[in-house]
This record gives sequence, structure tokens and C-alpha cells, in this order.
Amino acid sequence: MASKWWLTVAILVSLFAFSNGRELKIKIKHKDHLPVYNHTLARILVEYASAVYLSDATQLFTWTCERCNDLTKGFEMIELIIDVKRCLQAFVGVAKDLNAIVIAFRGTQESSIQNWVADLYWKQLDINYPGMDNAMVHHGFYSAYHNTTLRPGILDAVERAKELYGDIKIMVTGHSMGGAMAAFCALDLVVNIGEKDVQVVTFGQPRIGNAAFVSYYSQFVPNTIRVTHEHDIVPHLPPYYHHFPQKTYHHFPREVWLYNIGFGSLVYTIEKVCDGSGEDPTCSRSVVGNSILDHLEYYGVQMGCEEGGACKIIMDPSTAAYRTMDIEGNFVLSQNSSSNILRSSSGSKDQASSM
Ligand SMILES: *[C@@H]1O[C@H](CO)[C@@H](O)[C@H](O)[C@H]1NC(C)=O
Ligand SMILES: *[C@@H]1O[C@H](CO)[C@@H](O)[C@H](O)[C@H]1NC(C)=O
Ligand SMILES: *[C@@H]1O[C@H](CO)[C@@H](O)[C@H](O)[C@H]1NC(C)=O
Repeated sequence: MASKWWLTVAILVSLFAFSNGRELKIKIKHKDHLPVYNHTLARILVEYASAVYLSDATQLFTWTCERCNDLTKGFEMIELIIDVKRCLQAFVGVAKDLNAIVIAFRGTQESSIQNWVADLYWKQLDINYPGMDNAMVHHGFYSAYHNTTLRPGILDAVERAKELYGDIKIMVTGHSMGGAMAAFCALDLVVNIGEKDVQVVTFGQPRIGNAAFVSYYSQFVPNTIRVTHEHDIVPHLPPYYHHFPQKTYHHFPREVWLYNIGFGSLVYTIEKVCDGSGEDPTCSRSVVGNSILDHLEYYGVQMGCEEGGACKIIMDPSTAAYRTMDIEGNFVLSQNSSSNILRSSSGSKDQASSM
């Protein structure tokens, strides 16, 4: 009798475990939730993800840099955030032609990219994502967004952009580690701020969490596209071990893999829209990820810093009026921020008294 009872329990437990496992897969594979790849939009956003690397804060802030032309013309910068201590940079502004707030994150500096890539081979899932059992993420990427000057700066700028432009959609982008931060930012905007219309396009981003995290992320930010290029090494890291799908890092859907076919002057780029698993074996995973050069170019646009630009900051003295700095020397350049309003009102008082 007792053994029969135990058998029933064992069967029930395994059925439950089985259906749990399946549910995870179905959630990720659900076709209705998969975003549609829009080439035109990706071509525009890659230029924002490229521009955010530049070290001339004045040119970025006034949107007059060499990478600020072409498809991003007319962008209205709201806030440029520079975390000097950790060499991070991001901006928030409004792209009128997209009718959207655009948030862009800079990735790792070119000079240190070899070391950074080497570290990623051994990187373990090392922190629980708050509020979600079993969801684990990469501590470094998580805290680069959540535990620096970036998060408060971005949330403040998004609020001000919405005061000016109403409830328009939000597009978050970034290249490399900037793509990882873009994903954490988008999830934060949806879960903690209650934003409804948030869309993500990243370029050459690494894996950031495990399958449980991916399932959670996909529920809240389903409209996410992850573009990969040829043999770019970074999307292959930290490694995915398909024998242990629940235990290792796992990409979220949906990948779009850019690769070339043909020879010589007859080379075409194919944009392959991958399946909804996040780990489509026929996309970038079908080749060896061994190229840093492929990492530094997307859609023919140069990603990464300009020559010798690693982590330095150039700023015209005239831009200082827009600057707010914290005790660590990190700063924010902000259009019409409260500090500027204070400055201009005290300026007009001076004028009044001199009259
Ligand atoms: C793709 O994005 C562009 C730019 O936002 C937009 O104008 C166009 O309508 C989009 N295409 C589709 C099919 O959604
Ligand atoms: C800044 O102020 C000017 C003039 O008041 C206004 O036209 C502009 O839209 C404002 N921009 C932002 C980003 O607040
Ligand atoms: C955030 O940063 C502080 C100081 O830099 C550090 O003590 C703390 O452990 C960090 N928290 C996380 C979750 O990384």
C-alpha cells in the first residue's frame, strides 16, 4: 500500500516538473510575442548606438558630432550622462521622426576589449535578479546600470521628455556591453516605472542571464531584437552549454544574424531572422565566434570609440553651464534642467537689478 502511494507521488512530482519545464519553453516560443524585425529602424538605431561612444561631450550634447548626421539628424538631446569613474556613458533624447524617446548606452572601450572578452569566458551567473525566483544575471552588467549614476540620470530624463512630448514610445539601444545595459534599463522602465511601450534593439550584446531570467524578461519586454554580425565573438559569451539549459547563460529572442555571402565585388549581406528560442543553432551559433573586427562594425557603421578616444572626455567650456557634477566627478549635461532654470532665473534677476 505505502509503496503504491509513493509511486503515485513520484509520478505526480515528475509530471509537475515536466510540465514546468515545458511551460518555460512554450512561453519563450510563443509566436504572438515575438517582435517583428524592422530593418529601417535597426539602421537608424545603430547610428545612435555608434554615436554614444564619442568622447567629445560638447559635440554629442549639441548633436553636432560626425556620427550625429545621417539618419539621426534633428535628434533633440535631453540628457548626456557620463560616469567618469567607471567609464560609462549614455544619453536620452527625442527622435522626432521616430516619435520616440531614444536611450543609448556605450559599450566597453576598444583598448580593453580583449581583456574584457577573456574575462567573459569564465563568468558565472552571480546575482539573483530582484523579485524573480531562480532568475540569475551577470553582476557586472546588472550593476553597471542599476548601481551607477546612469539609472537616476536616465529615469529623470525620461520623465522630463514625457512632460515635453507626452506619452510617446521608448526605444532603448546599445552595442556590446551597452546592449546588456539597454536590456536591464528596458526591464526597469517596464517593471519599476510602469512604462507600457518600450522597445529594444541591441548590437553584438553578450548573454546576460539564465533561462529563467530570459522567460521573465520576455514577458515584460517582448519587443526586443538582438542583432549579431558574422563571427562577432561577444554574442557567444558568456558561453551557453546546451546540455544544461537551465543552468547556464541563455540569450533572449529574437536574434537577427547579419552575414555575407558571395565573393569579391559580389558580396551580399543576408539579414537572417532567427527562431524564437534565443539560441537558434542556425544563426550566429552555426559559426565560430572568434572575431573582434566583426564586433566593431554593424550595418557598415563603426562601433566603438574613435581613434585614441578610449575613456577621455573633451568638453568645450561653454557646455559647463549645463553640467551637474557629483562628488566622484561623474556628471550630467542636461537641457533645461532645474539647475539651469535656477541659473537663468538668477541671471534675469541680475539684469533686473542692474536696470
Ligand atoms: C519600420 O520603422 C520605420 C522607422 O520607424 C517606420 O517608418 C516603418 O513604418 C516601420 N515599418 C514597419 C513595417 O513597421
Ligand atoms: C528647452 O527650452 C526651450 C525654450 O524654453 C524649449 O523650446 C525646448 O523645447 C526645451 N527643451 C528641453 C529638452 O527641455
Ligand atoms: C553597489 O555599489 C556599492 C558601492 O560601489 C557597493 O558597495 C555595493 O555592493 C554595490 N551593490 C551591488 C548590488 O552591486
